[in-house]
Amino acid sequence: KEVDIDPEAYDAGEHDSFMHKELLEQPACAEAVLRGRLDERFGTGHLGGLNLDARELRAIRRVKILGCGSAYYVGQMGASLIEELARIPADAEAASEFRYRNPIVEPDTLYVAVSQSGETIDTLLAVQEIQRKGGRVIGLVNVVGSAIARQVDGGIYLHSGPEVAVASTKALTNMFLAFGMLAVQLGRVRDLSIADGKRLIAGLTRIPEQIDQVLATEADLALVAKRLAEAESLFFIGRVRGFPVAREGAQKFKEITYRHAEAYQTSELKHGPLALISPEVPTVAIVPDDELVERNVAALHEIAARGGPLVVITHESVDLGDLEGIVAGRIDVPRNERELDPILLTIPLQVLAYHAALELGHDIDKPRNLAKSVTVE
Ligand code: G6P
Repeated sequence: KEVDIDPEAYDAGEHDSFMHKELLEQPACAEAVLRGRLDERFGTGHLGGLNLDARELRAIRRVKILGCGSAYYVGQMGASLIEELARIPADAEAASEFRYRNPIVEPDTLYVAVSQSGETIDTLLAVQEIQRKGGRVIGLVNVVGSAIARQVDGGIYLHSGPEVAVASTKALTNMFLAFGMLAVQLGRVRDLSIADGKRLIAGLTRIPEQIDQVLATEADLALVAKRLAEAESLFFIGRVRGFPVAREGAQKFKEITYRHAEAYQTSELKHGPLALISPEVPTVAIVPDDELVERNVAALHEIAARGGPLVVITHESVDLGDLEGIVAGRIDVPRNERELDPILLTIPLQVLAYHAALELGHDIDKPRNLAKSVTVE
């Protein structure tokens, strides 16, 4: 299925930037990637482009995900989805590093290359190195007919439409949803029950509407972003499923605000970064209502005790106790199935970065020193 080349896609229209336009397009784009690929009756994904039958899917013993920048961070989200739902060991690696360490390529590993443009040279060369060693690679690619799309052995097109802003938003969201469908499909040829499959397919179906709900809070997020824009340096923290969310949040923030934004596992704060916490260094904390919520809230106390301003991305059901009165911002996102929460926690971070960059007067779509796709080594 080809994505229509629509001249309007290259016109920001009433928006001040392509990034803003693309942020708001996300609910519609999310619907596009899910369309025709959810099997509600049998609670599974229907990803014909993988070119893998049930027996071949069942034979996969490991999943290795490769991408650069935001595609790498969403790859980390994808790895946890696959491990949780399919119980197959999975991890993500920066594609730019992969080929330099003489990687071990195994025949029963599924390699997944993730790229919006499909032209990132480091990702393309990683794909070629894997294939040279006899490995099979599928692509999660947005641009139809791009170099990576042509190189891979199968894949899932993202159907986000053209993405112009350097900072990826709608393509990244669709990468996550593609991983969601892939994880369910891999799970359903193993031990994921039909009931759990249906639960997750229903969860995926709810996401476009829930993204819309997050985007509807833009005015509140803009106020929080104004305060964050004042800081020279910030931390983004999360753990397990929330850690790639923090990494992606820090990436977006530094790309377009030029502020120093560093992601850390919440659990590692006490092993180093706490030394840097002060009233001048805000922390954006990812605190979903999951099995780690109490530990996450305890870490927030550690930060508050050192005067560190806190912005908390969380769910309505989370009780912040006596922190409630002192947080600089609390953002509640809608709940989905736990495994699918990361994407809904990511959306407000995109909006925060956008509004902070707007406040600082930067060129949002073309940040200094960066290119939309890096096609030379
Ligand atoms: C560049 C961009 C990033 C992007 C990365 C991967 O570094 O500045 O925003 O995430 O490339 O791009 P791709 O097209 O492969 O997803």
